[in-house]
Amino acid sequence: MNFAERLALAALHKLDPERAHCLSLAALRMGLAPEPGPFSSPRLATSLAGMSLPNPVGLAAGYDKNAEALPALMAAGFGWLEVGAATPLAQPGNPKPRLFRLTEDRAAINRFGFNNQGMEAIVTRLAQRPRGVPVGLNLGANKTSDDRAADFARVLARCGPHVDFATVNVSSPNTEKLRDLQGAAALKGLLTGVMDVREELPSPIPVFLKIAPDLTGDELAQIAEIALSSGLSGIIATNTTLSRDGLNSPHKSEMGGLSGAPLFEKSTRILAQLSLLTNGQLPLIGVGGIANAEQAYAKIRAGASAVQIYTAMVYHGITLATDIASGLDALLERDGFASVAEAVGTQREPWL
Ligand code: FNR
Repeated sequence: MNFAERLALAALHKLDPERAHCLSLAALRMGLAPEPGPFSSPRLATSLAGMSLPNPVGLAAGYDKNAEALPALMAAGFGWLEVGAATPLAQPGNPKPRLFRLTEDRAAINRFGFNNQGMEAIVTRLAQRPRGVPVGLNLGANKTSDDRAADFARVLARCGPHVDFATVNVSSPNTEKLRDLQGAAALKGLLTGVMDVREELPSPIPVFLKIAPDLTGDELAQIAEIALSSGLSGIIATNTTLSRDGLNSPHKSEMGGLSGAPLFEKSTRILAQLSLLTNGQLPLIGVGGIANAEQAYAKIRAGASAVQIYTAMVYHGITLATDIASGLDALLERDGFASVAEAVGTQREPWL
């Protein structure tokens, strides 16, 4: 983190968290953030479900919900980006306040509830983005929809031609009953609809499934089986947790999904279990609590082919993407790995 970023973060932390979030996006749009371009090296250049990433460090969904800051984010250092969640219709989300900083825990709790401008506004920006690192869209469902499963397919049909990948997000805790779609029967039906739409796209893109960290072993095994049989391109593990174990911050009892440092261990255990269950047949993406290169490396060695970050940027700034990518390169070199792929799953056991 440089001096200017340290000052900017200190100022943002004096504001209400949602206001700070909006201001950080505005600063990106105004070109005020560093734009070093994606950090890369022969070791870091990674193929993920057929996409070429300059480095495996991605931006997780939920930061740029409306794809408003794509040019700056593409130049910020990330190897790939996920925007959204987008729903068919615009919706306001839950009442404010709905985002809380848990500074003592290096964490956040959010209960946004898929606030977004809707797929029509978002697809226009996706279609107009400059060329650069792969960009994907997190698919969501409207709160008042009478067919939520169909919403995922609708957003994919509309936006799929303009993105490099899409993610079925049935793991947000902030839309009532959404997580029920992770159940076997519901998930099979939903994925069949989504994969049918994918086949009809001008060129089929990778489709990932994003799961919650609060699943039981049995639920996880079922999901792995469905993921393998439905032709999904990979699994993103994980979304935020409902758990509140070991927190110290005054905001620890707020409702919503917890992200950041306290999620690291839980999400890495889920990732390692999934890696065992899918046995290298599906690429996995590790997300949850990554705040430095060592933790990104741990996710890769637990089974992830690529990683994503979000909450740690609240505490370390956007230059964290480049710091993690360059640190990861050094760790791979130290341990004699010629590529990210060589390191994937090489230290899964400790997490099982
Ligand atoms: C999220 N996350 C999220 N995930 C998703 O699939 N769709 C979404 O719309 C959102 N929205 C969202 C908003 C906010 C404010 C936060 C903090 C998080 C979850 C996010 O992508 C990620 O999975 C978790 O935050 C865990 O990673 P970190 O934050 O611990 O690195």
